[in-house]
Amino acid sequence: MPHVTEKLHQDHEKVEKMFKKLLQTKDDDASTRQKLCQQIATELRAHMEFEEKVFYPALRQAGDGAGEKVRHSVHEHNEAKQLLDQLISCDPKSEEFLDIAGQLQEAVEHHVREEEDSIFDLAQEKLEDGDAEQMAMRHDTMAREYKQQHAAR
Ligand SMILES: [Fe+2]
Ligand SMILES: [Fe+2]
Repeated sequence: MPHVTEKLHQDHEKVEKMFKKLLQTKDDDASTRQKLCQQIATELRAHMEFEEKVFYPALRQAGDGAGEKVRHSVHEHNEAKQLLDQLISCDPKSEEFLDIAGQLQEAVEHHVREEEDSIFDLAQEKLEDGDAEQMAMRHDTMAREYKQQHAAR
C-alpha cells in the first residue's frame, strides 16, 4: 500500500482535471455542468471528510506548528464548502456559474498547494510507515463508502 499522501495527491489531481473540464463548458450545456458539478462535489466532500476525520487528527499532535497548520486547513475546507454549496445551487445556465466555479477552483488550488507544500512534508516525516499505509487503506474504504451512500440517494 502506498503512503497516505500519495492517495491524497491522486485525489487532488483528479479534482483538478474535473475543474478543467467544467470551466471549458458552455452556457448551453447545462446537463454536462450539472454532472461535473455533482462529481466534483462528491470527490471534494469525500476527500475533505477523510482529511478531517482521519488525516488531520493524526497530525495535530506532531509538533512543528502542526496544530496551527491543521486549523488553517480546516478553515480553508470550510471556505471551499461554502463555495461548493453556492455552485450546486447556482443555475448552470446562468452567467455567474463559471464565475463561481472559477472561484471554487482557485480556492481548491490554493489549498492543495499549501497542503502539499507543508502538511504532506510533515506527514512524511512524522507518521510511521505502517500507520501511513493503514491510513491509505482507510482512505480507500471511506471513499468507497461515501460514494456508495451518495449514489444511493
Ligand atoms: Fe487534500
Ligand atoms: Fe485539505
